Amino acid sequence: MSDTHIYRVQPDWKREASIDNETYLSWYERSISDPDGFWGEHGKRLDWFKPYTKVKNASFEGDVSIKWFEDGELNVSYNCIDRHLEKRGNQVAIIWEGDDPSSHRKITYRELHEQVSRYANVLKAQGAKKGDRITIYMPMIVETAYAMLACTRIGAVHSVVFGGFSPDALAGRIVDCQSEIIITADEGLRGGRKVPLKVNTDKAIDIAARQSMSVRKVLVVRHTGGAVDWVPGRDLWLNDEAKAASPDCPAEPMNAEDPLFILYTSGSTGKPKGVLHTTGGYLVHVSLSHQHIFDYHDGDIYWCTADVGWVTGHSYILYGPLANGATTLMFEGVPNYPDNSRFWQVVDKHKVNIFYTAPTAIRALMGAGDEWVKKSKRTSLRILGSVGEPINPEAWEWYYNVVGEGRCPVIDTWWQTENGGILIAPMPGATDLKPGSATRPFFGVVPKLIDNDGNVIEGEGSGNLCIAQPWPGMMRTVHGDHARFIETYFSQYPGNYFTGDGCRRDADGYYWITGRVDDVLNVSGHRMGTAEIESALVAHEKVSEAAVVGYPHDVKGQGIYCYVTLNEGETGDDALRKELVAHVRKEIGPIAAPDKIQFAPALPKTRSAKIMRRILRKIAEDDFSSLGDTSTLADPSVVDDLIANRQNRH
Ligand code: WTA
Repeated sequence: MSDTHIYRVQPDWKREASIDNETYLSWYERSISDPDGFWGEHGKRLDWFKPYTKVKNASFEGDVSIKWFEDGELNVSYNCIDRHLEKRGNQVAIIWEGDDPSSHRKITYRELHEQVSRYANVLKAQGAKKGDRITIYMPMIVETAYAMLACTRIGAVHSVVFGGFSPDALAGRIVDCQSEIIITADEGLRGGRKVPLKVNTDKAIDIAARQSMSVRKVLVVRHTGGAVDWVPGRDLWLNDEAKAASPDCPAEPMNAEDPLFILYTSGSTGKPKGVLHTTGGYLVHVSLSHQHIFDYHDGDIYWCTADVGWVTGHSYILYGPLANGATTLMFEGVPNYPDNSRFWQVVDKHKVNIFYTAPTAIRALMGAGDEWVKKSKRTSLRILGSVGEPINPEAWEWYYNVVGEGRCPVIDTWWQTENGGILIAPMPGATDLKPGSATRPFFGVVPKLIDNDGNVIEGEGSGNLCIAQPWPGMMRTVHGDHARFIETYFSQYPGNYFTGDGCRRDADGYYWITGRVDDVLNVSGHRMGTAEIESALVAHEKVSEAAVVGYPHDVKGQGIYCYVTLNEGETGDDALRKELVAHVRKEIGPIAAPDKIQFAPALPKTRSAKIMRRILRKIAEDDFSSLGDTSTLADPSVVDDLIANRQNRH
């Protein structure tokens, strides 16, 4: 990667009240040397029912106990809604743009307050209380925002499950967090196609019941009007219940360390983990980062294209922007429906100033051709953000030059579900940009590069990316399994949080994320564990063994490559390939559908029967020059067969 392209901060990126380089450097220095002073001051950006007197009480040593603002009390929905009413009651809080380009809605802060209060009262009437887990399996509609905010209003802990997950995956998450209430919709709509959310929910509840988990209530939002099955007594139309409920619901005072939400995410081993975030530190982090990283100013129209089923949707569609009193756009659809100019049509239609999307979308639209972009004006755009995977310099340049016409900084933000909010990113008025680099750390974040032997790399160099000090927005634990939290993030490099990403630091102290160094895939910005896909494959009756690796994919970033060994007597053909793809879609969801399946008579294993994934990765990448040492293989001839029958020939 070359460091030669530097885009200097342009004079008009340094607007009044933007952070300039000097301010960035001095705030950053203070955030590290005096975290209590820095965060104690910035914590005041929120409204506290009971002010905190303590700021940081957190350590990566021993039992890894993370607490911020621990004696303060506040409420997230109050901070995202109520406190804005006086000044911004009639300002639009949420612009909703439907899948169908002719449909949109605008919800003011006052309307949001009323609806969230009604939803909160419905939840209470159904017996939900502080601390209860509530599963939300919804499309990208305003009612999803109401549901999430209503949970926070009464102190219930939401677990949002992405609408692209299958009934099995949904059931696993319901059982793991023992959620007795589910909020869903009749159907979702994406790119003109219906997503059977209620049908999936019914199936998931049956699966959960077989694991002794009984779901008491299903609150259903009528969205498409499609037909659904109904279980009287269990199922309720949320629209009707909300209409009948009181629009007055005081916000529950919560301790800063009370759980706010659980979000399941994939790791290198085992089932997805329930990442637990808490109330105070999280909201301070997402609101401060949203303001400065996107240089948000009053009156800006802000659009993050993520789905609320992922952490980006939680932190940067809802909580960060709403805590700042912003107008945030929620988009139900996809970038290429009805055609490839949709994003830019929406930008023009709603005069979007700040636009935040994923490299996979940028690459897909770049491939579709510039003419789709040029059909739009995009004159409102000021800031272009990127998140979810490394952005290759070519896509970065296209985003900057074609979409932004050289006027808008590209803000490449690196972070993870576990982090709560952005950890490495430029600030428009402060940071010179280098295409492909997420640039410099956010306040309070101390990146540390450590090699495989545990040596810390100072200055220029590459290594495993760790974070050396606790920050306010970070996860507190894995729901129900603190030992797994410590084991997953703090056992590799004791005293440091290990991210799972590889990274290079250049001579200017800029960070370049190189991608995961563990068995986690990033497919179109969706995070998946190879272990989950493998276990889905071996659950098929004809499969004896499976190993899954990623390979470079032009649009998706990574594709899913599966090596499958069949049971004696089975034949691997295209029909079985199709069957296996359908099987994985059913077990996990369409996002996990394999791109390539290679039937392999045997997998390369060491004499102690450990699969040598390094070799499988190289073969999937079509790179045989560096297969490394194969002499430790139990049967080296396995490799020749794998190469001869690879699916990825160029
Ligand atoms: C990757 C998404 C490079 C990374 C917010 C990380 C990135 C994983 C970037 C987390 C970026 C995210 N540059 N890589 N700007 N942003 N990643 O939990 O590998 O869905 O570990 O959180 O995405 O994915 P997650």
